[in-house]
Amino acid sequence: MTQKDIDGLVDVKNGFISRELFVDADIYKQELSKLFTRAWLLVGHESLVPNPGDFYTSRMGEESVILCRDKKGEIHVFLNSCRHRGMKVCRYEQGNTSLFTCPYHSWTYTTDGKLQGVPLYKSLYDGVLDREANSLVSVARLCNYKGSIWATWDKDAPDFLTYLGDAKAHLDQALDCRDGRDGGSEVIGVHKWVFPANWKFAAENFLGDTYHNPSHRSVDLIGIGPSAVSGKKGRRDNELEHAQHVWISFPAGHGVHSAIQPEANEYIESFLDNPVLEQYFRHCYEERKRRLGDGARLMPFVGTIFPNTSYHGRQPRGLCAWHPHSPTSTEAWRFFLVDKDAPSEVKDYLRHYYMRYSGPAGMTEQDDIENWLYATAASTGTIARRYPFNYQQSMGAYTTDHPLGGELSLQVTEQIARGFYRRWASYMRDADWGELLGLPAGNREAAE
Ligand code: FES
Ligand SMILES: [Fe+2]
Repeated sequence: MTQKDIDGLVDVKNGFISRELFVDADIYKQELSKLFTRAWLLVGHESLVPNPGDFYTSRMGEESVILCRDKKGEIHVFLNSCRHRGMKVCRYEQGNTSLFTCPYHSWTYTTDGKLQGVPLYKSLYDGVLDREANSLVSVARLCNYKGSIWATWDKDAPDFLTYLGDAKAHLDQALDCRDGRDGGSEVIGVHKWVFPANWKFAAENFLGDTYHNPSHRSVDLIGIGPSAVSGKKGRRDNELEHAQHVWISFPAGHGVHSAIQPEANEYIESFLDNPVLEQYFRHCYEERKRRLGDGARLMPFVGTIFPNTSYHGRQPRGLCAWHPHSPTSTEAWRFFLVDKDAPSEVKDYLRHYYMRYSGPAGMTEQDDIENWLYATAASTGTIARRYPFNYQQSMGAYTTDHPLGGELSLQVTEQIARGFYRRWASYMRDADWGELLGLPAGNREAAE
């Protein structure tokens, strides 16, 4: 895409983004080839493949990949496509195996991706077929970050933590234990569903679009937070009530909405009708404060790690991947997280909350999905496509002079969405990694 093409689509300076980004087939194709082949993408979580031979089929962009733990316990991510004629070597969502046997002509691959068995090898291929060179195609880089598994197809991509930058402190708290210990989460369940809207609607929603809260008015009125009893707010709201909310756009295109609690912050009784939960959450709250000190005041709420991974840091705690299917169709995956060592009563309670809140049948998430699909349907028409979306909210209302990094705003802002599309445009221009990370021009060499 030329600079001129991009200028006609993404006008961050004046706050306009063309609707073509959400409906056009050619732009979508370019996203698949220029963006989803380079950025770090969420593939899954180590707790989905706890034992040697365990696999979980996932996606990167439109393509099927296999997340697999080999015999020695090492985690791999491969393209789910046979090197012979491309058949999917694995057609299950998850399971355990010692070999992947292609259903077409029965080539077999080991759990570390190596081509092992080739029927009639001696008489048909001897001396010609190089097994090593015909292994399953592996991702270029892989990172197990606190249990979450990320991968990229770009061998020149920076390591995952460099890619994450200052968004790390916020993502961490979706992945860390509630009591402040590092990592320690497990996936308690996965919701998967397809909705008729562009993947960027979902990514953007989690960038910190707190402005859309009126969509959830009906459900908020009945208070369905984890602790809610009729007429009272849920636990999530309790913790954030006296906090300073912040919205931050990070230079690599990530964005978060977090909150900073006041210095004197005490646990708010939240589960008085259930002593096990009350004791657990009180303990976690106090313990986290003791471990992290002043750092415990940062309470991440939601965010999107560029391009298509989002998280909920509080409740319903989890990671979301927005997998593209077509310009106007997206497959949503939500990995729900709990502390691995939480009491079973707590896990069960959260499981029910996640089901009540999230997914197409969840009382809150269905509000969001409805917005995205109607906005898509109303943007596909010839006349509608002539008029760009408006992104002028809180223009210029941010500071870079603060310790959390990025462009920080104390009010609801579309600066984060503008930052996301600024970076989207860099990928469309095939920019180098210095620009993709948003490094100042003078500092770019280090990232290449
Ligand atoms: S396509 Fe897999 S063995 Fe032929
Ligand atoms: Fe929402």
